[in-house]
Amino acid sequence: MKFLGLGLALPALNSCDSLIEHFSYNKKLEVSPGLEFKSPLGPFKSLAASSLDELILPEGYSYDIIRSYGDVILSSKPESESGRSAENGAGVREQLQDGTAHNRASSSLKFGYNNDYIGFIPLSGDEALLAVNHEFLDPLDVPVEAEQRNAVGVSIIKIKKDSHGLWKFDEDLESQREFNRRITANTACAVSGAVRELYPEMTGTLANCSGAITPWNTVLTCEENYYLFDEVYKWKNFNAEQYGWIVEINPLKPDSKPIKHTSLGRMAHENCALVKSQDERMVVYMGDDKERQFIYKFISKNPISMPKNFKDLELEPHPSPFSEGDLYVAKLDKNLNFTELNSGKGEWLKLSVDNPILKSKFKSQAELLIETRLAAKYLAATPMDRPESLSVSPKDGSIVAALTYSPAEKNNFGSLFRIIEDKPHSESMTFRYENLIIGGKASGFACPDNIYFDKNSNLWLATDIDGARLNKSPYDFQGNNSLFVIPSEGPHAGKALRFASAPSGAEFCGICFSEDYKTLFLSVQHPGEGGLQSRWPYGTNVAKSSLVAIYQELEWW
Ligand code: FEO
Ligand code: CA
Ligand code: CA
Ligand code: CA
Repeated sequence: MKFLGLGLALPALNSCDSLIEHFSYNKKLEVSPGLEFKSPLGPFKSLAASSLDELILPEGYSYDIIRSYGDVILSSKPESESGRSAENGAGVREQLQDGTAHNRASSSLKFGYNNDYIGFIPLSGDEALLAVNHEFLDPLDVPVEAEQRNAVGVSIIKIKKDSHGLWKFDEDLESQREFNRRITANTACAVSGAVRELYPEMTGTLANCSGAITPWNTVLTCEENYYLFDEVYKWKNFNAEQYGWIVEINPLKPDSKPIKHTSLGRMAHENCALVKSQDERMVVYMGDDKERQFIYKFISKNPISMPKNFKDLELEPHPSPFSEGDLYVAKLDKNLNFTELNSGKGEWLKLSVDNPILKSKFKSQAELLIETRLAAKYLAATPMDRPESLSVSPKDGSIVAALTYSPAEKNNFGSLFRIIEDKPHSESMTFRYENLIIGGKASGFACPDNIYFDKNSNLWLATDIDGARLNKSPYDFQGNNSLFVIPSEGPHAGKALRFASAPSGAEFCGICFSEDYKTLFLSVQHPGEGGLQSRWPYGTNVAKSSLVAIYQELEWW
């Protein structure tokens, strides 16, 4: 028996028996530490649960910190010190187009708060960019709105391999000036899709949770809990209609405007899982991380037109395939109890003002997109227990969603929910589904949040139990938040093997492998959350979210 797909191609997966087979192994899970597994990152023995305030990795693995909150990513050293000519320095300033960029010229740029998604953009074998989201902040730490606006958004940073082949932040000022960039709540953004008629431009990006790298090496960043900035941080003149979108950034062009693609809908976008169809169109699967919200799918109208040189790619006016297309929402054949194993059939319902029900509710497609959740509800889409990340299996094309947990539905532990399209992704309007693995003591994990299929279709899964609930009943079996790997085949297929245990109060997010799979980049977010004491990573009283690079220790160590 195998986890996910039984190794068959998508169209051949028709037997419901095979789905039942998945369920039976789920009931037999035995999760214990010390299980050996060979992952693409390297072999390891699974860890036991821990409540220690440490980032714990299997024997033979180490980590380096690439950047922590507040670290400089672009130094403001005078031109004379930096060795850069005044002429070039002026050039940098001329590219600036927003409040943050102004800071770029006048003061150092800093790595933002609560790093989340990490995207790897290769430049060469030894050099790459990382695009890193900064999701939210602690207003006790950053009390002033002007500072808060600069602490969120996205960091683009250049990294470089050292002489041992280990990835490090590139300290070279020339490189920093060429690539490093902060996109913040002040950065002017262009707009594509129907909402452009109401908002030709929007201000800034925030609540940036997870995302994706496109086949043409741009970054998609997902705006999630934008309500925080209004209701908790009480920002002045906050226009919520400008947030809750997916935003595309060209990291290779630091002077380019990010673009908000409104055709992908407005919601608490957790992430976006991309599939390139055979006809080169883009299909995007998305979850709305809120109780009783939905799973969505977008199919682009146009195929990708790949630029010869990514550095020349202009996102404006909007040649991106995300600028135009159809948005759908998932409806299942029954309302599920997501704490139980279950399976059935579903369909994708198009969210368009051409639908008579929606035509009577919305004046225009722009209005509909701004109220995507409402439109989905009018079509009686199926509410789910907080859809967090989705990922597409490279083995069989099935889509797995982490339904994290939902106190309102008495769902404490969450589950993994799988969608198997009936036809190729860009054509299929129907699918089969199964609630695949239920979180809890038997499976060994609770509150799945970030998930990512590696190249061998092993599912990497990071949990997000609230700090205040960690190590207390009914969550005590799991210990601290952890990163698990669920092998797709072999003797441990379907079991959650713990690869890493997080410091007190922290969650792991942004699971990202280097191209050669020798390094795992990971965000360690909010150590010390929920009133817990954490001294990670520097052993001081100030815990800091940080981006780490994890790798197998070198033989000569
Ligand atoms: Fe940003 Fe749904 O966690
Ligand atoms: Ca998340
Ligand atoms: Ca979560
Ligand atoms: Ca989270």
